[in-house]
Amino acid sequence: MASTVLRRSPKKLFAGRALSTAKAVTGTSLPKSWYNIQADLPVPLPPPLHPGELRPCTAEDFAPLFPESLIAQEVSTERYLDIPEEVREVLNLWRPTPLIRASRWEKILGLPENVKIFYKYEGGSPSGSHKTNTAVPQVYYNKQAGTKKITTETGAGQWGSALAWSGGQFGLPIEVYQVKVSYEQKPYRKAFIEACGADIFPSPSIRTTVGTKALEQDPKCPGSLGIAISEAIEACVSSGEAKYALGSVLSHVLMHQTVIGQEALEQLSHFGEYPDVVVGCTGGGSNFAGIAFPFLGQKLRAEAEKPEIRFVAVEPAACPSLTRGAYAYDFGDTAKLTPLLKAHTLGSGFMPPSVHSGGLRYHAMAPLISHLKELGTIEAEAVQQTAAFDAGSSFFRAEGILPAPEATHAIEGALQEARAAAKSGQPCVILFNMCGHGHFDMFAWEKYAKGEMEDFEFPEKELQEALKTVPGLNGVNWP
Ligand SMILES: Cc1ncc(COP(=O)(O)O)c(C=O)c1O
Repeated sequence: MASTVLRRSPKKLFAGRALSTAKAVTGTSLPKSWYNIQADLPVPLPPPLHPGELRPCTAEDFAPLFPESLIAQEVSTERYLDIPEEVREVLNLWRPTPLIRASRWEKILGLPENVKIFYKYEGGSPSGSHKTNTAVPQVYYNKQAGTKKITTETGAGQWGSALAWSGGQFGLPIEVYQVKVSYEQKPYRKAFIEACGADIFPSPSIRTTVGTKALEQDPKCPGSLGIAISEAIEACVSSGEAKYALGSVLSHVLMHQTVIGQEALEQLSHFGEYPDVVVGCTGGGSNFAGIAFPFLGQKLRAEAEKPEIRFVAVEPAACPSLTRGAYAYDFGDTAKLTPLLKAHTLGSGFMPPSVHSGGLRYHAMAPLISHLKELGTIEAEAVQQTAAFDAGSSFFRAEGILPAPEATHAIEGALQEARAAAKSGQPCVILFNMCGHGHFDMFAWEKYAKGEMEDFEFPEKELQEALKTVPGLNGVNWP
């Protein structure tokens, strides 16, 4: 059974086997704690602001949406927070996840021997991506707090599937609002969520006033994560006994993903390696944070084996919050129900083009990722979806794992790093997060195979128009 293999100790795994020839490593154990980068920030994170009173939010402001334990995690500055045993037991079903050397892909790309690519594979989780790493603890803490139901949004369906499955682990009902364009493109996500016993609705829907308004304005509205978040929050608040869960963006969500990077750190050491560059795709920022933060924490504490280690966040050119957005206080949703978060944003009213990476179609970035970008500790680049799928296709043929559309962006980012290193003649160890498989995304892969995939560049004029409503660009700030 896979779980038996995953629990092997490093010694057993490598008994009688030369390390240099190993392709995949599971030789580590699931971490006992999450790593909280807030402990190591050189400058503290700007606080979320109450949208009406424009003062830093208190725990009470968040209480209608989240249980106390998660609010405490959100603002914690302790470096390590214990993972409850009940959560570890569920995560242990598929964790630790393997760290794999992409040796066949390296060969096909014709890379010199001193350019090495490693990837952490998160697609073996019950929902097929990294999202389950935070869904499980979020459901657990809600159950502990007596929550009766959790509402949420989902873009591509990965987060909704992860929360729906996790709800089943602790017997908590889940209600999912899925961005309509993805809901229609991926019918099997709906089937998956319903198989978990959860409810799912296309967003915008007529179940909420926010959704009804969006449909009145445009009956063909494809939806966006911003609208779906508004609907899930409205459904939560109006129910009276529900709470809300978010699959990315917030600091506690990013922290839950650090099991990925902590495992990778140890696993890479079994290969005798340390990365020169860590790459991840970014929608709201959680999988990138998951793989990058444990290494970045070492760099911030001046403990990194390679002090010059770099971190590259890759986003879609069609929704380029980190590379083209403004760094300013803005709402996290379209209906302006959330607190104001200081982050790179394209404007909460921004309607991203209907690209295939539904999970990357979010108007803003996680405040932590945005802050780190402003501090100059991480880099960002935007790529077009056809280039990303080209890279994903070449990776699939070499390594045998069909990537989720979102993950192809990280693959393209890793490819660019590898090509640049090969050209410069410098040795380079590249680590990227293969955050999910694409088995539910065959609509996108079919479009790609038929040559029907389109690229989008967001026009500067439209971007400037979308930014006009951002509160942070209209005088709202915090010293
Ligand atoms: C497979 C996959 N990767 C990446 C993302 C982007 O989210 P995040 O930036 O939080 O990792 C999503 C979002 O749904 C996803 O499904």
